[in-house]
Amino acid sequence: EKPILVGLLGLGTVGSGVVKIIENHQERLMHQVGCPVQIKKILVRDIYKKRDVQVDPAMLTTNATDVIDDPEIDVIIEVMGGIEETRQYLLRALRQGKHVVTANKDLMALYGSELLTVAAEHHCDLFYEASVAGGIPILRSLVDGLASDHITKLMGIVNGTTNYILTKMCKYGASYEDVLAEAQALGYAEADPTADVEGLDAARKMAILARLGFSMNIDLEDVQVKGITSITEEDLNYAKRLGYTMKLIGIAHRNGNKVEVSVQPTLLPDSHPLASVNDEYNAVYVYGEAVGETMFYGPGAGSLPTATAVVSDLVAVMKNMRLGVNGHYAVAPQYEKQLKSPAEIFSK
Ligand code: NAP
Ligand code: HSE
Repeated sequence: EKPILVGLLGLGTVGSGVVKIIENHQERLMHQVGCPVQIKKILVRDIYKKRDVQVDPAMLTTNATDVIDDPEIDVIIEVMGGIEETRQYLLRALRQGKHVVTANKDLMALYGSELLTVAAEHHCDLFYEASVAGGIPILRSLVDGLASDHITKLMGIVNGTTNYILTKMCKYGASYEDVLAEAQALGYAEADPTADVEGLDAARKMAILARLGFSMNIDLEDVQVKGITSITEEDLNYAKRLGYTMKLIGIAHRNGNKVEVSVQPTLLPDSHPLASVNDEYNAVYVYGEAVGETMFYGPGAGSLPTATAVVSDLVAVMKNMRLGVNGHYAVAPQYEKQLKSPAEIFSK
């Protein structure tokens, strides 16, 4: 059967995981979607770089046109990071009717609305599960699993790098600089880790979660952010002696018609479930009026866990392609008025 051809933008930590999962789970993917999946072209900065995954060198290119404008490619997977250049690539892909899967929270937090609008206008899918909490399927859980509930609050640890740093500093007395270097070597940190340690990465993820959880547009500038750069080993030891653990906690809650979002280092009693979320793991508490409290827990960063979310989004795209429908986790507000009513759809 004719394979679905995929173009990959980026072959770093996450991109390598995507290649491995597509190769190693081909049978499972076939079973899910009924046809083979094949990566056709991969955009990188340096085609001669030594990589921890083997690919046919002919697949690599430094020219984005080879991937984005290839008429045979149906789906673009964006795992290169960055904002402006990447935004232009994805807009170009969507305008040609290509479906997009991205792990890029920076882009989705800043330009999600624009990209979702263009995707809808061109009948394309745009999925971004990997952008929040790595391997935890939290976006789908919010919009599908908890679709019937009225969510009142979201709270959690959504940055793996800072959680790794705080865990190692607190448990083993390791220095901030050493553990940050370890988190970078393990592929948890962003290319520029400032966004991790200053809390911006977590703020962007909380904005995405809040948009989906509360179906409201959240302006990133309204998110209160404080990172972990001023936390010392002494602070952590002192807290430990008093029975507390320091975590970088994101909170989004409804306050009347408004949603307030913040990210800041927070002291939790050792008995609190979030206090025992360690290393690069993430956890998100969702408070719903009907469901009460639910907690989602899992690896928040790293190659294969993140790639699992990316490839699962690819499966969702492929299922939609077969059904002849398109989807997103949320409809961009500007596009909402153009949606068909259920009566229009079901009368046909
Ligand atoms: P990475 O290891 O730095 O990989 C980036 C890849 O993109 C590299 O292969 C690089 O090429 C390529 N690239 C970057 N800029 C490029 C450009 N301008 N032109 C062509 N190629 C370019 O990054 P990563 O950790 O995989 O993260 C990728 C994305 O996933 C980011 O948006 C990140 O926020 C997100 N994410 C990461 C994780 C994680 O655990 N790492 C988890 C969730 C989401 P070269 O290899 O030739 O340098
Ligand atoms: N740098 C991010 C983190 C990667 O540490 O959580 C996952 O989004």
